[in-house]
Amino acid sequence: MKSKYKIYCTDCIEGAQKHLSDNSIDLIITDPPYGISGDLLHKHYHRKESNVISGYVEIKQSDYFDFSVQWIKEAERVLRPGGSIYILSGYSNLVDILNALRQTNLEEINHLIWKYNFGVYTSKKYVSSHYHILYYEKPGGKRTFNTFSRIDSDEKNSTGGSLNYLDREDVWIINREYKPGKIKNKNELPLELLIKLIQYSSNENEVVCDFFLGGFSTAKAAIGLNRKMTGFEINKNSFNHHYPELKKIMPGYLLNSIKTGKNNQPKNQGKPWDSREIVKLGERFKELYSVHKNKKKSIEILQKEFSRGYFSILNKIDEFQKR
Ligand SMILES: C[S@@+](CC[C@H](N)C(=O)[O-])C[C@H]1O[C@@H](n2cnc3c(N)ncnc32)[C@H](O)[C@@H]1O
Repeated sequence: MKSKYKIYCTDCIEGAQKHLSDNSIDLIITDPPYGISGDLLHKHYHRKESNVISGYVEIKQSDYFDFSVQWIKEAERVLRPGGSIYILSGYSNLVDILNALRQTNLEEINHLIWKYNFGVYTSKKYVSSHYHILYYEKPGGKRTFNTFSRIDSDEKNSTGGSLNYLDREDVWIINREYKPGKIKNKNELPLELLIKLIQYSSNENEVVCDFFLGGFSTAKAAIGLNRKMTGFEINKNSFNHHYPELKKIMPGYLLNSIKTGKNNQPKNQGKPWDSREIVKLGERFKELYSVHKNKKKSIEILQKEFSRGYFSILNKIDEFQKR
């Protein structure tokens, strides 16, 4: 793709068949319609509907599974081997999406939970305030997962916990954006969430795709992070409103304002341990522990000396001690 984006106002299944070649996409992030009559969503959300763009296209619940199979198979075809796909889903038709994924060769990596504010109000049951983010990959290639793209391995919170580890836990608490008085799409995803997915699972100039662009939030985040963007939105009103906005986005403008790590993966992380190295580690741990009398502190020193991750060292110390 030569330009920064190619976006189409069309049905995503037909659009992908016509415009996207096999194995051409590095990352898909998409939030399909929910199959719960989108026109009734305002009954749940407390907001002024006149600011919401009309024409949102829903899928009938009875068609939801077949529709999901069709678009997910297209997504699988266009994704490169090793490429990642994140599908956002509420609870109502999650089962159809999971079953549709099982009709493909895509492999599950994580099932994330996104907890947001402004949950759907209910009075006689619990308030629903989470989404599912299904993270899958197309097998057969190298996965892009930039472990230290956001937070370095040695950054700690006030109680000494690893910030990198916390950032990669599978429950994310991210607020929805409140845009009073602004024209918007029905269910826009927050920029913070999209930035996180894009940072971990793609590199600059790679191609990101969204099959259901809605308010073009994925497109805006991807271009802002200097990725290339393609995707589809069937609603002409939404397309006509948001497409011209893309021109105003300076590619890469977000890169200077977001927190990044140095991508400083320890040199030996992921390499197999040989038995001599395990003995050396065990003996060195004994020395350090006798000085510091603190296991965590000793392991932190060993992390630097052995250029490996904290838990890898912890496991090998256990292994050494059981010998
Ligand atoms: C949940 S919204 C996406 C919201 C989007 N992630 C955002 O942040 O604004 C789903 C969108 O898919 C669109 N849509 C429904 N069926 C479609 C289809 N077959 N092809 C392309 N877009 C479709 C709807 O009009 C709606 O805008």
